[in-house]
Amino acid sequence: MGNSHATTIATTPFADQRPGTSGLRKKVEIFKQRHYLENFIQSIFDSLEGYQGASFVVGGDGRYYNREAVQKILKIAAANGVGRIVVGQGGILSTPAASALIRSLNAFGGIVLSASHNPGGPHGDFGVKYNISNGGPAPEKVTEAIYRRTLDIASYRIVNAEDVDIDALGESMIGDMRVTVVDSVANYKALMQTLFDFDRIRDAFRSGLTFTFDAMSAVTGPYARALFEDELGAQPGSVINATPLPDFGGRHPDPNLVHARHLYDLAMSDGAPDLCAASDGDGDRNLIIGRGRFVTPSDSLAILAANATIAPGYRKGVAGIARSMPTSGAADRVAEKLSVQLYETPTGWKYFGNLLDAGLVTICGEESAGAGSDHVREKDGLWAVLFWLDILAARKESVDAIVRRHWARYGRNYYSRHDYEEIASDGAHALIETLRQRLPALRSQGIGALEVATADDFAYHDPVDGSDSKHQGLRVIFADGSRIVYRLSGTGTAGATLRVYIERYEPDPAQQYLETQAALADLVTLSRELAEIERYTQRAAPSVIT
Ligand code: G1P
Ligand code: ZN
Repeated sequence: MGNSHATTIATTPFADQRPGTSGLRKKVEIFKQRHYLENFIQSIFDSLEGYQGASFVVGGDGRYYNREAVQKILKIAAANGVGRIVVGQGGILSTPAASALIRSLNAFGGIVLSASHNPGGPHGDFGVKYNISNGGPAPEKVTEAIYRRTLDIASYRIVNAEDVDIDALGESMIGDMRVTVVDSVANYKALMQTLFDFDRIRDAFRSGLTFTFDAMSAVTGPYARALFEDELGAQPGSVINATPLPDFGGRHPDPNLVHARHLYDLAMSDGAPDLCAASDGDGDRNLIIGRGRFVTPSDSLAILAANATIAPGYRKGVAGIARSMPTSGAADRVAEKLSVQLYETPTGWKYFGNLLDAGLVTICGEESAGAGSDHVREKDGLWAVLFWLDILAARKESVDAIVRRHWARYGRNYYSRHDYEEIASDGAHALIETLRQRLPALRSQGIGALEVATADDFAYHDPVDGSDSKHQGLRVIFADGSRIVYRLSGTGTAGATLRVYIERYEPDPAQQYLETQAALADLVTLSRELAEIERYTQRAAPSVIT
């Protein structure tokens, strides 16, 4: 190691650098504190072994502070003996594209700058996530090591050098480290071409398939333009809000029915496109709405799995399916029909990594608008959209028809998530603690006339590395398969967020067309009473219903 241009800067630890479900996520103001980002980056390198001379990938979703952070990371990496860093042009890489690049390059790891779907700008959020050589989020033992290091860090190393030009493609040196600026899209686009039938999708567009994709002024703009318009021939203008902006135009780059309401309204209007879709700040989430039909993420996962062999990349079928625990059981029914294993993991994409690496699952997803496969080790928004396009092109049916047929065959899982955001942390923890204590009684006594099949605090045993994750959410499962799940968000940056997941299975096609909240009304009321939500959160109703 050792770098002639490097200096060591004395520093003191910050107490708040514990990475959450998706890396270290904080307000920009916090990240901008003197030594804050530097400490965290140095702590990453301090907790890794054997990376000297190796390659890393760096890029982010283009949000405010992305460019400054990239420059700092390059200089710290150079001072720590990294051999080469590959950066997306302009510092831009979507999260799945970063994952793909780490894998293609056989890199040691990567640093992804994003706060996902959280707002950006000087008063918004920023985030740093470390990904390992399989392209996926670092597992808990790595993030814990990083966190422990942040608690006793006393200095960081940095190279004194001019900023690197990250806008021009090509190579340069910083200290003794090579920096390669690559096209942010090319490698990802090539990967997508191996998975889906681009000719078939092109034909569908040529035959009049209509499509609107909202990049939400976030990272997927350049990817979506290149793929959908330039490569696949979607009508020019199909991709909207395609220029990544540091503050996402002042909006939440969160493709849900609140922040992408306009897309929902478009899909429900006369003359709606066949498919409306969107992705989030860093490009790993997806929103799928057909003409007149919103597809819940849980249903989307199940439908992609059920139709997987349509796409060339999955022609051989799926080895298994994984879903996070709060995600609806729709995928379970598909796994059962396909006679493959269904894995139920805690919330957070990192739990899928081992299953994918071991070849136990091919497709995985979460209720929070994330779906993906073994092609990368992150969820992948554009992948899901391309998958739907390929299915539409092959089946030549509407999204609505595909969803209805799926329900008729497998049953419908009515499903909704109620979020109580920015509530007081003490109350939130007290609610969970009190309910946890009551689980044994619920199990034995039921709730009124309702028979409780299971009431537990979800724990996961990783079948690959044998690790155990406890306290992953409280589940109350009724004898008829209905479910209420409670957990606290691990990604919020202000106060606490209580998530309540409500689900009911309906096998009878005649009962599958109720409005979702109406279909779940009794369970929703019960969910509030059971946990005394108003008492603990001072909220009579959730802030967001999805
Ligand atoms: C949320 C989602 C979770 C997802 C994560 C990162 O985490 O619920 O499924 O993996 O964002 O996108 P939460 O805030 O619930 O901890
Ligand atoms: Zn995201």
